Amino acid sequence: MKELILNGKNNTSRIIIGKGILQESDKYCKNLFADRIKPSQICVITDTNVEKHYLKALEEKLENIGIPVINHVLTAGEEHKNLEAVSRIYDTLSNNKIERNDMIIALGGGVTGDIVGFAAATYLRGIRYLIQIPTTLLAQVDSSVGGKCGVDLPQGKNLVGAIRQPDLVLIDSDVLKTLPKSTFIDGMAEVIKYGCIKDPKILDMISQIDLCDYDNKDNEIIELINRCVGIKVDVVEADETEEGIRRILNYGHTIGHGVEKLGNFKQFSHGEAVSIGMTVAAFIGENLGITKKGCYERLKRILNTFDLPTKLPYPAEEIYRAMMSDKKKQGESIHFVMIEDFGKVQIKLIPITELLQIMKVLGD
Ligand SMILES: NC(=O)c1ccc[n+]([C@@H]2O[C@H](COP(=O)([O-])OP(=O)(O)OC[C@H]3O[C@@H](n4cnc5c(N)ncnc54)[C@H](O)[C@@H]3O)[C@@H](O)[C@H]2O)c1
Ligand SMILES: [Zn+2]
Repeated sequence: MKELILNGKNNTSRIIIGKGILQESDKYCKNLFADRIKPSQICVITDTNVEKHYLKALEEKLENIGIPVINHVLTAGEEHKNLEAVSRIYDTLSNNKIERNDMIIALGGGVTGDIVGFAAATYLRGIRYLIQIPTTLLAQVDSSVGGKCGVDLPQGKNLVGAIRQPDLVLIDSDVLKTLPKSTFIDGMAEVIKYGCIKDPKILDMISQIDLCDYDNKDNEIIELINRCVGIKVDVVEADETEEGIRRILNYGHTIGHGVEKLGNFKQFSHGEAVSIGMTVAAFIGENLGITKKGCYERLKRILNTFDLPTKLPYPAEEIYRAMMSDKKKQGESIHFVMIEDFGKVQIKLIPITELLQIMKVLGD
């Protein structure tokens, strides 16, 4: 078992990583309020897929705490990460008289974590105890840690949100075993992102993970998750509100969001879009003389090993237009994240038109 602490401005997250952690969830949840106000109810929120695998087991464990447990099941899928889903959670919370000092648990992938975090941050101006139990690799290495939460609007992704550090994040490698392979691969894109921006050792370590055999690699996967989460903790502690260094976590995301948007969030998963975005960013970096020559080719090879896409799927102009409506745009230039080499990152304010010119070369 590994433990990390994230000290946020308003809250501290305790992060537990290991095999079989879900089976000990009652102990960790109870510890949270050992010397603080005891909640009167616990509400577990999950989605229609995760429900089948883990809701009953979690509820049975939580019953050991001796506090009533209720649940709410979201319809799975990014297309349901919207205000309507939040509003339905508010209904459940108010119909069941959930109070300010109660506990909300998000059990699921990044979509569930983002929706539930936002509901917990806003209902009654903030519920006292928020626990994230991420069940996808992406959520374990990225979205469950750092406090960013929110939902999409028809105008774009993650346009409404809050920052609410969870009190506890329980990361259990066992739950990854029921993930569809494609969802596991999706998370690998974020793992590779950490390798690019901070820790090249990660890129060596993943070469030991055979896609046909990843459910027998608990130790390796736990070590990978631990490294990724460690990076996220350091970055978030340095810049919780994303005014500077936290932007490095967006490596591959500017173009990635454009790709996701053009595919109506259906054609490409988040990880696939980020994979394309990271590759294009390396190409752009090499063209601007910022990224060391050869990084683009190596990154492409690594991503392709995991069956992740690396080619621009739409004309450069279309991606450019989709990026223009992204919230990270500032005037005509954007803070664009590039690597100098694996493990070394640089953020540069670049005119969007310059990015377009280089992307056009790649598209040819
Ligand atoms: N808040 C942040 O900092 C942050 C960071 C990165 C990504 N995100 C967000 O995360 C979301 C993507 O997260 P995701 O990839 O986890 O998607 P997801 O939550 O949609 O999960 C992917 C699919 O896997 C299913 N699933 C989840 N766990 C499972 C399990 N253990 N076994 C079987 N099926 C399981 C889900 O029901 C879903 O169908 C995006 O909305 C993205 O914006 C947020
Ligand atoms: Zn991401």
